[in-house]
Amino acid sequence: MKFFVDTAEIDQIAELNDLGMVDGVTTNPSLILKSGRDILEVTREIAALVDGPVSAEVVALDAETMIAEGRKLAAIAPNIAVKVPLTWDGLKACKVLSGEGHMVNVTLCFSANQALLAAKAGASFISPFIGRLDDINLDGMEVISDIRQIYDNYGFETQILAASIRTVNHAYQSAMVGADVMTAPPAVIKAMAAHPLTDKGLAAFMADWEKTGQKII
Ligand code: G3P
Repeated sequence: MKFFVDTAEIDQIAELNDLGMVDGVTTNPSLILKSGRDILEVTREIAALVDGPVSAEVVALDAETMIAEGRKLAAIAPNIAVKVPLTWDGLKACKVLSGEGHMVNVTLCFSANQALLAAKAGASFISPFIGRLDDINLDGMEVISDIRQIYDNYGFETQILAASIRTVNHAYQSAMVGADVMTAPPAVIKAMAAHPLTDKGLAAFMADWEKTGQKII
């Protein structure tokens, strides 16, 4: 499973990128607000830093303006994926922009039917929002699993990008049900390294090592 980082914070992307953990980056208007940065400027910096797809989201609601915004965002760098919302106008924009050879990430997906439409409109990525489904007591992972089956049934090449990942369990379950990609905040990716038995075992090793009186360097 590929890891995208769900942030517009350059320092945090760079730290994970140095570890080989970054296959791409996703941003959205809320993350741009949080960063305090200009969208065009920060997107350019991120796209130069990482090799993989960098999602930058349009903010228009009508297809015509979405297409114009998408073209402007795509012109920033060859690895930009234009993010459009899963509305009827967003699907129209997806069809046009993907037809022009741009990567398109269709976002705010909450059902398998929506994902089917996005695939038919030529999306490179579909972003089902796991955490927000769980927030309203629906099963986000079941939606991912259904999309996996539908895409596999018909050979759609649209990649399933598990989004709104809030916990390490979301990351684990996304991998188990066959999401192609997950996009997660840096803190969730780092938390995947943590295990209490690792901490306990390390403490025991350190205590015993101290008793040997030895040094390696
Ligand atoms: O990738 C979409 C993500 O940014 C949404 O996450 O936690 O705001 O639902 P969240």
